[in-house]
Amino acid sequence: MSAALECRGLVAGHGSVPVLRPLDLTVAHGTVLAVLGPNGAGKTTLLNTLAGLLPSIGGEVLLDGHPLPAGRPRTANRSGLVLVPDDRALFTTLTVRENLVLARRSGGPAIDDVLDLFPALTERLGVHAGALSGGEQQMLAVARGLVQRPKVLLIDEMSMGLAPVIVEDLLPVVRRIVDETGAVVVLVEQHVQLALEVADEAIVLVHGDVTLRGAATELAADRRRLEAAYLGGAEDGAA
Ligand SMILES: Nc1ncnc2c1ncn2[C@@H]1O[C@H](COP(=O)(O)OP(=O)(O)OP(=O)(O)O)[C@@H](O)[C@H]1O
Ligand SMILES: [Mg+2]
Repeated sequence: MSAALECRGLVAGHGSVPVLRPLDLTVAHGTVLAVLGPNGAGKTTLLNTLAGLLPSIGGEVLLDGHPLPAGRPRTANRSGLVLVPDDRALFTTLTVRENLVLARRSGGPAIDDVLDLFPALTERLGVHAGALSGGEQQMLAVARGLVQRPKVLLIDEMSMGLAPVIVEDLLPVVRRIVDETGAVVVLVEQHVQLALEVADEAIVLVHGDVTLRGAATELAADRRRLEAAYLGGAEDGAA
């Protein structure tokens, strides 16, 4: 069976300036890939390229074994690549329910089913998105991604600006998304240990280079190797 998502020699960047070195990546069905790395490493550039918002400079992206045209966000979205951007991009003057209704794709999951993952939102359906707490806004951003029936959900910094205790509550939902909806998740995250708890595989990006990749449990158990990877030391087995 082909991978849910695959990058072959993907070169991403801004204009003609590459940010990522040629990247090979495979995300198997039913898994979470954590994309880790310091500020400016190229994590957002990678997600935006996968979502078609940025045209790739080289290489290709395959979804279920089928190549996607580069730089075509609507095509990528319709094919099942759904981005939850780091700024959440909510309609702040619309209610929670209106945000979900607008985003929902016909044939997508029922809003009530998606809300099962986020009970706190169920009580806030009539509230304007702009009046939600940061954690609730992030729940809504992810719920909005889910009603689009993603094959691959790309989540950029779910925990940005949130207290650690809220992040601890939110991140396990990522595991449930994969287990209950069948989507795969690519999770860009600064909370390394929490991300590794919910991920199956992880890569560390530094200056556009993969300096470490492996099973999340193995990386979580080896902090020194992780720290070395953050400092840019490429490892055997890294791309
Ligand atoms: N619109 C842009 N035009 C030109 N260069 C950009 C643009 N956006 C980002 N870059 C550059 O691309 C590189 C990677 O940035 P990117 O936002 O992908 O990093 P990141 O890993 O997501 O960082 P952070 O953890 O801070 O979100 C940086 O050197 C950045 O300056
Ligand atoms: Mg970023």
